[in-house]
Amino acid sequence: MKVRIALSLLFLVAFMVFAFSAVEAQNTYVGVKSCKMCHNKAKTGKQFSIWSESGHAKAFETLATEEAKAVAKKAGVEGDPQKADQCLSCHVTGHGASSEIHGDKLTMEEGVSCEACHGPGSAYKSMKVMKDITAGTIKGETVGLTTITAETCKTCHNPKSPTYKEFNFDEAAKKIAHPIVEIAE
Ligand code: HEC
Ligand code: HEC
Ligand code: HEC
Ligand code: HEC
Repeated sequence: MKVRIALSLLFLVAFMVFAFSAVEAQNTYVGVKSCKMCHNKAKTGKQFSIWSESGHAKAFETLATEEAKAVAKKAGVEGDPQKADQCLSCHVTGHGASSEIHGDKLTMEEGVSCEACHGPGSAYKSMKVMKDITAGTIKGETVGLTTITAETCKTCHNPKSPTYKEFNFDEAAKKIAHPIVEIAE
């Protein structure tokens, strides 16, 4: 009897794992280089260059500074901040994602990158899908492209940050703006 119950439980767990991974397996992280190849032309706004000069691109590097070590100590976090879940959760993209979703292209060194805000890119990063989204034939959400709101930012810009500064979405969005507009070289 006990064996039977244990077996059914085992099947139930196996089924749940399968069901969840089937849903989540749709969209996986592809890393910033996969976006750079199309999003670094002056003619369409050099989103990659703008991002790489922003604080977000340095968010992992920041965790190696003396300042970060002091912040960690004060927050009661032991050891190297670049290895601490309590810091990485907001300083790199996709921290804590399962290995299937995380993939091996996304690196910690890229810090807070495109997919931290726009969502994991495996399904939307093709030219056809990108054009269909812009044309309105496909809704971005259906292929993992997030509709960005203040809430997207507040998953990290919140009082759980040990260095929290009041967050104003409109002002902050202006500071990191990278619109599709021609940039003179
Ligand atoms: C194969 C080329 C290509 C790749 C790779 C690519 N994009 Fe795009 N993306 C485009 C093009 C082209 C447009 C604009 C389409 C247009 O203007 O018709 C676009 C538009 C967008 C938009 C605006 C969509 C909207 O709602 O109007 C976002 C956001 C975006 N891309 C993010 C990304 C991110 C993040 C990545 C990497 C995960 C990425 N793209 C990878 C070509 C690409
Ligand atoms: C995954 C976590 C995360 C998300 C999501 C996030 N941020 Fe940040 N942001 C950070 C971290 C970490 C820093 C500090 C980076 C550093 O100094 O090393 C930062 C810094 C900034 C800064 C100051 C640095 C600069 O480049 O001017 C601005 C402005 C900013 N974020 C705006 C935004 C906006 C707007 C959004 C949403 C559209 C957003 N952030 C979403 C983690 C995040
Ligand atoms: C901190 C959050 C954040 C990061 C990181 C980020 N973006 Fe964005 N992105 C935004 C916001 C906010 C907008 C403007 C609102 C919108 O279009 O959803 C935007 C808009 C865009 C657009 C559309 C611009 C337009 O004029 O329609 C493209 C293309 C884009 N991002 C590409 C990228 C690429 C490529 C990267 C990485 C190199 C990147 N983004 C990194 C938040 C971010
Ligand atoms: C809840 C998300 C979150 C967590 C967790 C987090 N940070 Fe940050 N961190 C941010 C954001 C957002 C910023 C940008 C400034 C702000 O508003 O806090 C930032 C900025 C920083 C800065 C730059 C200083 C500054 O004033 O801009 C340092 C250093 C830093 N964090 C260290 C750490 C360390 C060390 C840990 C782990 C003990 C940690 N952070 C955990 C979100 C977070």
